[in-house]
Amino acid sequence: MARLTPLPAPWWTNAVVYQVYPRSFADSDGDGIGDLRGVLGKLDYLAALGIDVLWLSPFYPSPQDDNGYDISDYQDVDPVFGTLADIDALVAQAHERGIRIVLDLVVNHTSDEHPWFVDSRSSADNPKRDWYWWRPPRAGRSPGDPGAEPTNWESAFTGPAWELDEATGEYFLHLFSPKQPDLNWENPEVRQAIHTMMRWWLDRGVDGFRMDVINLISKDPALPDGPLLRGGPLGDPWGAVVCGPRIHEFLQELHREVVAGRAEPLLMVGEMPGVTVADAVLFTDPARAEVDMVFQFEHVAMGPVKWDAAAPRLTDLKASLGRWQLGLADVGWNSLYLSNHDQPRPVSRFGDDRRYRVESAKALATVLHLHRGTPYVYQGDELGMTNAHFAAIEDYRDIESRNHYARALSLGQAAEDVMGVLAAVSRDHARTPMQWDDSPQAGFTTGTPWLAVNPNYPSVNAAAAMADPSSVWHHYRRLIELRHDEPVVALGDFTMLLADDEQVYAFTRRLDDVQLTVVANLSSEPVDLDLAVDGDLLFVTGGPGTDPAELAPWESRLYRRG
Ligand code: GLC
Repeated sequence: MARLTPLPAPWWTNAVVYQVYPRSFADSDGDGIGDLRGVLGKLDYLAALGIDVLWLSPFYPSPQDDNGYDISDYQDVDPVFGTLADIDALVAQAHERGIRIVLDLVVNHTSDEHPWFVDSRSSADNPKRDWYWWRPPRAGRSPGDPGAEPTNWESAFTGPAWELDEATGEYFLHLFSPKQPDLNWENPEVRQAIHTMMRWWLDRGVDGFRMDVINLISKDPALPDGPLLRGGPLGDPWGAVVCGPRIHEFLQELHREVVAGRAEPLLMVGEMPGVTVADAVLFTDPARAEVDMVFQFEHVAMGPVKWDAAAPRLTDLKASLGRWQLGLADVGWNSLYLSNHDQPRPVSRFGDDRRYRVESAKALATVLHLHRGTPYVYQGDELGMTNAHFAAIEDYRDIESRNHYARALSLGQAAEDVMGVLAAVSRDHARTPMQWDDSPQAGFTTGTPWLAVNPNYPSVNAAAAMADPSSVWHHYRRLIELRHDEPVVALGDFTMLLADDEQVYAFTRRLDDVQLTVVANLSSEPVDLDLAVDGDLLFVTGGPGTDPAELAPWESRLYRRG
């Protein structure tokens, strides 16, 4: 039997994180783009939901090539989102409500408009030249020749990961857009500058960082070719660039320089595409002092995988999530999520947003929140918000989606087919404005929203959900409360049941004498339940909960014994 995390466990073991994508959350000034004062105005909403941590996606000055994941100044706020005073107010007022603030830390790359890169590209002998990855063309090729790029790597947003700078005839590396040049972490000055910036934010009162694609920061300086980086999904094999030779050293150094010795409880989360369970054990072993938990992609990369809209098999999903539960049972910690600003909406992807929107949103939440780990709620998932269903490519704003569309068409794919793929997996599904009420633009803005509001807002919105005790929102609230109140939810052992069942997701959690059993029908057909469950029924969603041997479509139940 797995050893339990010794008590007292870290504070985040029974915490729930809520992710805000500021651009789409709440607009206080009518320019159609959400902002920090908008978030401030919704703190009571978040407190009512019961969340513990607010993760803010980037609000820093940025040309917005990748919606702020291209930062041109780490120590300020983009005027579109507000001011430093707004952040200070947000931190103070969140803390008054017992909510901690975690910032997005995007330090694998900067914007090409960051002064560091402007200096770096200004000449081959600029002191900041080595802060980024500059390389001459491949041996025997001239700058700009086809195939002259220094490696065969492709960027995540399609096309080569190298951009030629005409002035010096050298290429710079960008694993994402050409406006997101990769920082060279081999250079100690780069690392020190980042540590200093992080301490500056912590001194300002923030409570930690979600570290964007942080396992890409260490590259093998030899920059070997392949395994090819395919454009698109972060879950793809990123062969040559994930978890490079110095990744653990860099994270341990960062921990020593930034985190160690601080009195306040912090949360350090590493977003890590392509990590295995074994990698995650190393990254999250408290004795190694690297990060508290990793955001891994195995379960969301399996389907519909980006650009491949095949539906996921429930048994595969269970096998993956179950493997992570067991793999991190003794050492380390899981983060639990089905969605974020890069993923389609869970109710559209894993649920049934046409026939069983409410039921499937609840069943998915039951299953996820009762795993062992720290759950992440992405804004709007607590309302059962659905994918966008845009009709034209012009409706999309996301750089990844638009680039993919252009490339697929250039390769001869039919526009209709590519639109079908985007309808399943575009990152914009998660980025449509938060639906607050049934007033125009869902109460998100008094202006024209930067991305169209989902037309289902008259029925799917926060005001309606909060007023209805049987809503998805109230179920999320109950699950969050349960994690706070029941140590077994945070710390209990996990055992998967019925692993081969294609409809039922079932497991137990056990801590001392208490055992929880979760059963959920993750399908739109009724199912026979071949499982003897003892204990009291704590809740049932999506069905009558009366027949021990049958589950209605998307019915979920929680039993407690002890
Ligand atoms: C992360 C972010 C994503 C961004 C990428 C590059 O995966 O979540 O939105 O495009 O990193 O910063």
